[in-house]
Amino acid sequence: MIARPVLAANWKMNLGPHEARAFIAAFAARSPEQRGTTVIICPPDVSLDAARDAVSGRADIHLGAQNIFWEDKGAYTGETSAPLARATGAEFVLVGHSERRHVFGETDEETGRKCVAAARAGLTPILCVGETLAEREAGETERVVLRQLHAGLRGLTPAQVAGSLVAYEPVWAIGTGRTATPDDASTTHRALRAAVGGVLGAADRDVPILYGGSVNTANAAALLAAPGVDGLLVGGASLDPVSWASIVAAGAARAAHR
Ligand code: 13P
Repeated sequence: MIARPVLAANWKMNLGPHEARAFIAAFAARSPEQRGTTVIICPPDVSLDAARDAVSGRADIHLGAQNIFWEDKGAYTGETSAPLARATGAEFVLVGHSERRHVFGETDEETGRKCVAAARAGLTPILCVGETLAEREAGETERVVLRQLHAGLRGLTPAQVAGSLVAYEPVWAIGTGRTATPDDASTTHRALRAAVGGVLGAADRDVPILYGGSVNTANAAALLAAPGVDGLLVGGASLDPVSWASIVAAGAARAAHR
């Protein structure tokens, strides 16, 4: 089973190969190797190779891609397949990130195909779900995230679902400085966990569910302490090695209290 809490960095469209190398060296110097946590860094595809070199020797730091296409190869200009991401050092992949859904129009159905392609290639999907502000204000949070969850995981076998991760990222909290309260996160995580149990049937129900959306050094510990929060998915605050090391340290402190 994956060590938790899981601390995942989503660099989005930032940090090229040289910067990725320098970042990882600076982060690793501040953050001693941990047994009780899992650190995942998701650089842009062009920096995966450099990041793989930079993390070698650190078994606790893993790499993820930010997106994949669902076909394994072919004439799909500009896309990265799951096997290509795997070959470049990724072990994980974000699927259905809110920016994929809302900026690039990715559909629920496409997230399902991407999760299947990821699992087929031996990449662990981190399925991202989250409601918009309008959906939240209309009281539709649970309906939306459960619809996204089912669509994303539908094509996986029970064993593949059990080996996946879920990230709850309310769209209104991403990059806005507005964070869900630990209670809000716990409430939605509880609904997601019950639904994962439904998808899984009698199999392992303990899929890690991460929270994301304006996580920073000041709120990481409280979010990690919220019942049902198994880790964090961090954007802006993961771009600075000092703040990222501090968030990872909050995760290590949490692991020590479990
Ligand atoms: P911020 O932490 O910048 O709000 O981004 C969250 C996110 O989208 C991580 O995937």
